[in-house]
Amino acid sequence: MKTIKNIDSFGHVRGESLFVDDIPTLQGTLYGVTFDSPKAHGTIKNIDYSKAESLEGVVKIFTYKDILGENQIGGIIPDEPLWAEDEVHFIGQPIAFIVATSEAIAKKSRALITIEIDEKPVITTAKEAKEKGSFINAPRSFKLGNTTSSFSNCEYIIEGETFSNGQEHLYLETQGCYAVPMENGNIKITSSTQGPTSVQKTVAKVLGVSMHKIEVDVIRLGGGFGGKEDQATPWAVMAAVAVQNLKKPVKYILNRHDDLRMTGKRHPYESTFKIGLSKEYKIQAFEVEFLQNSGAAADLSPAIAERTLFHATNSYFIPNVTTIVHSCKTNLPPNTAFRGFGGPQGMFVIESAIAKAAEEIGIDKKEIQELNLLQENDEFSYGQIATQVEMENCWTSAKNNFNSAKLEEEIAAFNNKNTQYKKGLSFMPITFGISFTNTPMNHARALIHIYQDGSVGVSTGAVEMGQSVNTKMLQVASVTLGISTTKVKLETTNTTRVANTSPTAASATADLNGKAVLKACNSLIDRLTTVASTLLAVDKGVIQFKNDMVYVNQQQTSLTWEKVVEQAMFERVALSENAHYATPIIHFDKTKEKGHPFAYHVYGTAITVVTVDCLRGTYEIDAVKIVHDFGKSMNIGIDTGQIEGALVQGIGWMTLEEISYNEHGQLLSNALSTYKVPDVFSAPKTIEVLPLETLGNEHAILKSKAVGEPPLMYGIGAYFAIQNAVKEFNPNYQLKFDAPFTPEKVLMGLYEE
Ligand code: MTE
Ligand code: HPA
Ligand code: MOS
Repeated sequence: MKTIKNIDSFGHVRGESLFVDDIPTLQGTLYGVTFDSPKAHGTIKNIDYSKAESLEGVVKIFTYKDILGENQIGGIIPDEPLWAEDEVHFIGQPIAFIVATSEAIAKKSRALITIEIDEKPVITTAKEAKEKGSFINAPRSFKLGNTTSSFSNCEYIIEGETFSNGQEHLYLETQGCYAVPMENGNIKITSSTQGPTSVQKTVAKVLGVSMHKIEVDVIRLGGGFGGKEDQATPWAVMAAVAVQNLKKPVKYILNRHDDLRMTGKRHPYESTFKIGLSKEYKIQAFEVEFLQNSGAAADLSPAIAERTLFHATNSYFIPNVTTIVHSCKTNLPPNTAFRGFGGPQGMFVIESAIAKAAEEIGIDKKEIQELNLLQENDEFSYGQIATQVEMENCWTSAKNNFNSAKLEEEIAAFNNKNTQYKKGLSFMPITFGISFTNTPMNHARALIHIYQDGSVGVSTGAVEMGQSVNTKMLQVASVTLGISTTKVKLETTNTTRVANTSPTAASATADLNGKAVLKACNSLIDRLTTVASTLLAVDKGVIQFKNDMVYVNQQQTSLTWEKVVEQAMFERVALSENAHYATPIIHFDKTKEKGHPFAYHVYGTAITVVTVDCLRGTYEIDAVKIVHDFGKSMNIGIDTGQIEGALVQGIGWMTLEEISYNEHGQLLSNALSTYKVPDVFSAPKTIEVLPLETLGNEHAILKSKAVGEPPLMYGIGAYFAIQNAVKEFNPNYQLKFDAPFTPEKVLMGLYEE
């Protein structure tokens, strides 16, 4: 397929692309700031707003008492107030919303509020929450076969513990919205959200109005990474409450510190595993208990916990599996979606288990990995039978194309020669399921207008957040209509044009919305074919639209796209179409924890090579070499960009990014000076991405498989490559599975006795 550049690239590099904060403000616009809890747990005794209210320029301070509808924003479980009432459950929990004539005044006012809180005990870790019985909901458990009986037949049984820390989304554009009063009490909100319908629905609920009174528009996001799937909502609701009350436009853009403090992150997980292998190193049984640190409210935690279970065996077939996940309620900001959605946390544990098994048996981790790779018709612990499996294909292709045997020899030679520097290599296979794990969410709509001059406007429920979904939608429309890309425009994502959308998430956006675009375009083409066949006096069956022209029996005619559109208009043929697509074949029964939740899986293998400086504990990622199953990529440039970005994000999570809360629940890594994200120096020096040649999957848009999240998990390879290098230097090093593997921890490992 002819590929094109990201349609936003020119606008982005020239600074012309619009984000929420770039919208020209209306006269009389007011500005909001949140007053949030300074304590992680307690009862509010008293709040004094008097000084803050009397500051000149302060228009009103909103609290839960000003809510006309419900003070409730919980999506999956109704356990989260918009503004705290009597109790606070985390530092950063919104209590009040100050609206003033400028942001500076609102902030000044915030500093004048005083609060007295009767403090209660604070829980910050999942383990502590479990000990105290503090949970979000009931645990979930998946079972395949019988682990208890199969352990007794195992030659090797290895147990261990793992920890993987949270991760800050650090979208370049912070959370924000602009809410404007329209006539008759209607409100239009421009929001930086992945879920326009969630914003619309929650605003309506809190304001006590119908959804049709609320219009949500999304231009694009300066990154979301899951952090704006659920957590873009509260800010929009606050602004909307203020608009409802004041009938003035209200803008609310969080500054970076407020955003870091008040929003949730990737869930930290504490897990314990037990893995059993046969004499031949076949994994016979795997048990794992995941403790998810959910934070103070459910947010998306139950869905994320579920996906952890779905990916607990990563790319391996294991006949006997018992997994359980507890969503543990702690006094931290509610943790939320982050690229991979609990999948990476699950995969880190099985990779750790295999690493530990390999160490205790005394073989290479790679041998166990390779022997247990998923094969055609293998059953996942959730009952889905794996088909069109490309796992071994990816693995072997990575080994052969990147000549891993030679790489390993070179590394061994290097390690023999060098004392200060040691290199390590790892293999990281990935298998990631595509579809929202919640089956009812897997549908989407598109609305297409052909204007009478032949130009086309495309609206979908997809939100552009840098992943280039708009470019892909444009490609689908242009290919299906047979017209040049310049004739197609992607509209903003707007709830009045495309309603009841699922969030842009689960990597499934291009599939779901793209299939709807495809259907709508096909309906339009069918109508235009009738028009063209009359004009040319030929059968409909021989007509094709291509290159802005009409073709008959593959021969170009002189009939243009524009002429057919003009004629259709004249004949009063509808030039607009709305189409709906729902993923077929998927289902899941939560009472049995079995089903076929995914339309298909994405596969791949990464080989990571690192060099550790054994004097300093620092390291460099020399290379990551990936064979990835794109299916038939519809835009290899964009898809490769997704791989590179996700990989570096995954490496950051595994190596550098260290979220830190103290025992009072206060975020210590609350600025970019104390939270290290990968920069160009910590990115791999080379990234090679080799597309696997496959037929693609019919459920993927134009057979081009979803790509947004899966490659993040290649980053897990960095952890194990560094660990291998540390072991080279210090044979006494005891394997630890405590991510991120920061230079500090590496140094400790290099010199432990
Ligand atoms: N790429 C960029 N540049 N910015 C983002 O915010 N989000 C990721 C991924 N790639 C993201 C991104 C996440 S978490 C998901 S779920 C997918 O994009 C969502 O988009 P898709 O469904 O179109 O792949
Ligand atoms: N992935 C991402 N986001 C989601 C999902 C999922 O499976 N389910 C609900 N939100
Ligand atoms: Mo992505 S974590 O599904 O927004």
